[in-house]
Amino acid sequence: MEHLDADSLRPRRRCLITGVGGQLGHALEREFAGDEVVALDRAAWDVAHPAGRLPWTPDLVLHAAAWTNVDGAEDDPQGAAAVNVGGTANVAALGVPLVSYSTDYVFAGTKRTPYLESDPPGPQSAYGRTKLHAEAAAGEQAWIVRSSWLFGATGHNFVRTMLRLGAERDEVAVVADQRGSPTYVGHLAAATRELVDAGVPFGVWHLAAAGDCTWADFAAAIFAEAGLTCGVRRITTAEFGARAPRPAYSVLRSEKGAPELPHWREGLRACLAELDGA
Ligand SMILES: NC(=O)c1ccc[n+]([C@@H]2O[C@H](COP(=O)([O-])OP(=O)(O)OC[C@H]3O[C@@H](n4cnc5c(N)ncnc54)[C@H](OP(=O)(O)O)[C@@H]3O)[C@@H](O)[C@H]2O)c1
Repeated sequence: MEHLDADSLRPRRRCLITGVGGQLGHALEREFAGDEVVALDRAAWDVAHPAGRLPWTPDLVLHAAAWTNVDGAEDDPQGAAAVNVGGTANVAALGVPLVSYSTDYVFAGTKRTPYLESDPPGPQSAYGRTKLHAEAAAGEQAWIVRSSWLFGATGHNFVRTMLRLGAERDEVAVVADQRGSPTYVGHLAAATRELVDAGVPFGVWHLAAAGDCTWADFAAAIFAEAGLTCGVRRITTAEFGARAPRPAYSVLRSEKGAPELPHWREGLRACLAELDGA
């Protein structure tokens, strides 16, 4: 008789992923490929509306769909709330364990040491407020995973924008007075699986890359790693003039023993390698 180990006898977990068209949703679909996965983009489930019929009841929902246009949320806070708060409530209504992603932008950014899970939130932007309300809407059976400055090989993100601008220009102006931890979605997806598989209690968990930097430092690292000669002109948040306020400091760390992620520079190299292989 063929040898069967414990893993091959265990029924496969059924995972539902929302927002699979986004950069994190894409990484989650890859990371959870060993499970039985149904991954839905916005066309398959607009989360602002209750779920339709699902092929099966999931064991786990990974909720990556969100309104992520931070400046756009200032112009249409109700639209952002419908997706982020209403959408999370619709996902929670499925009544199964849920990973709901949140953000460093729930914090005011006035600290100069890392934000821990127990620190009081104080969002400064409409987007941050919707994400904080979404944390409450996720309910009692949820791991609220806060992360920061996401980037990956797909979708809209800072790395892809800098690679494009760095190839077109001699210099780019980049904000040098906001500090955070740029997090590669592949590393966040892996840490999410580790967190869930460890069976840790529901509640807020901080999962962000090790190390920290400013956007200007990050841009310089992207150009260096990609072999681009483009220069970085360091500017202030006020000079950049975005519509939504951003925290000046939003490094996240865990005081609860959350899985540790690799350094952001390692994430950058992994992302560039993924782009090279694409
Ligand atoms: N990006 C960051 O820097 C960052 C930082 C911290 C936390 N987060 C959080 O991490 C999670 C994933 O973010 P991400 O960077 O992967 O964002 P993303 O690339 O913008 O992906 C979000 C996805 O959600 C979809 N979506 C928007 N409205 C929807 C709706 N009503 N119904 C269903 N899907 C909808 C989008 O579809 P369309 O493409 O059609 O709009 C998109 O595919 C979010 O909860 C975000 O708040 C992000």
